[in-house]
Amino acid sequence: MRILSVETSCDETGVAIVEDGRRIVSNVVASQTAHERTGGIVPEVAAREHLRQLDPIASEALRRANTRLDDVDAIAATVGPGLIGALLVGANYARGLAFAARKRFVGVNHLEGHVYANWLYQGAEAPPEPDLPAVVLVVSGAHSDLVLMEDHRRFRLLGRTIDDAAGEAYDKVARLLGLGFPGGPLIERAAREGDPRAFTLPKADLAGRYDVSFSGLKTAVLRLVRDLEKKGAVPAPDLAASFQRTINEMLAERVARAAAEFDVRAVMLGGGVAANLALREEITRRVSLPLRVPPPKLCIDNGAMIGAAAFFSLRYRSEDIPTLVRSGLALAH
Ligand code: KG4
Ligand code: ZN
Repeated sequence: MRILSVETSCDETGVAIVEDGRRIVSNVVASQTAHERTGGIVPEVAAREHLRQLDPIASEALRRANTRLDDVDAIAATVGPGLIGALLVGANYARGLAFAARKRFVGVNHLEGHVYANWLYQGAEAPPEPDLPAVVLVVSGAHSDLVLMEDHRRFRLLGRTIDDAAGEAYDKVARLLGLGFPGGPLIERAAREGDPRAFTLPKADLAGRYDVSFSGLKTAVLRLVRDLEKKGAVPAPDLAASFQRTINEMLAERVARAAAEFDVRAVMLGGGVAANLALREEITRRVSLPLRVPPPKLCIDNGAMIGAAAFFSLRYRSEDIPTLVRSGLALAH
């Protein structure tokens, strides 16, 4: 079964063709650069950029897959969570295509997409599917959800952020350090030149629960930067490395605790922050179960992960497929 899938929830415009929920036939992604100037995403600008890019990207995805629209079996799009204007552009485009081509439309929860990115592969040889049940950490620009994936499309929420998301913390600290946007990859690069133990930063302790909080950490970095500015130069690599170590330890500690508490067979990561190599290493150090993480380009937003999630939506619990666009759709409760 071939699915054409569309992702426009934030600032990446993506269209892919995915076979049987796993094999990437084509996956075209354009990251919007209009937000570099503003140092953050302006929702109206994001929506307008999706509108401009989507049709050429869809044609390119079909061309690279050597496929015609007639030959796909269903058309999917992210319907939430995300920026409402951006979501509407992608979902309405995909619905229009589906109507015109007389195909089924499948709405996809973007966070399920990040989880199902772990099922994707490229090339001829299919790697084994991840084992379930699993502990899954979805860390992106807007979410930091730790969930128990009991079975396909059955998620139980263990913890989430009570303030900023992990990616948001990366982006804000990168701005403080004058590194640019989006912050995650820039912090990771700067951290390679720095000492992760140069500064001790606070870790919010939420009394053994699985929730996280990053606003205190962000404020501590802000104070430190202001102090260091008064004294002279700000050692951005040391600050980036210390911040990255602290946030990764907070996340990895919770993942390891959940993996020990629940009887699971694997640990999985998803979302843009999962592209961070130091986070994988920190989790590998603490967890002995198999760890699955998509390759970095499938961690950040892309159409293929939506095609994977759409396939598994049709196969499992198909009575529970979201159809309407909702900016606040959750992964689990
Ligand atoms: O999943 P994603 O592409 O979009 C959302 O659904 O939000 O995640 C984007 C977030 C941004 O905050 C970005 O700074 C962060 O993921 N990110 C990273 C890395 N690459 C992207 N954070 C840490 N390390 C990275 N290598
Ligand atoms: Zn995302």
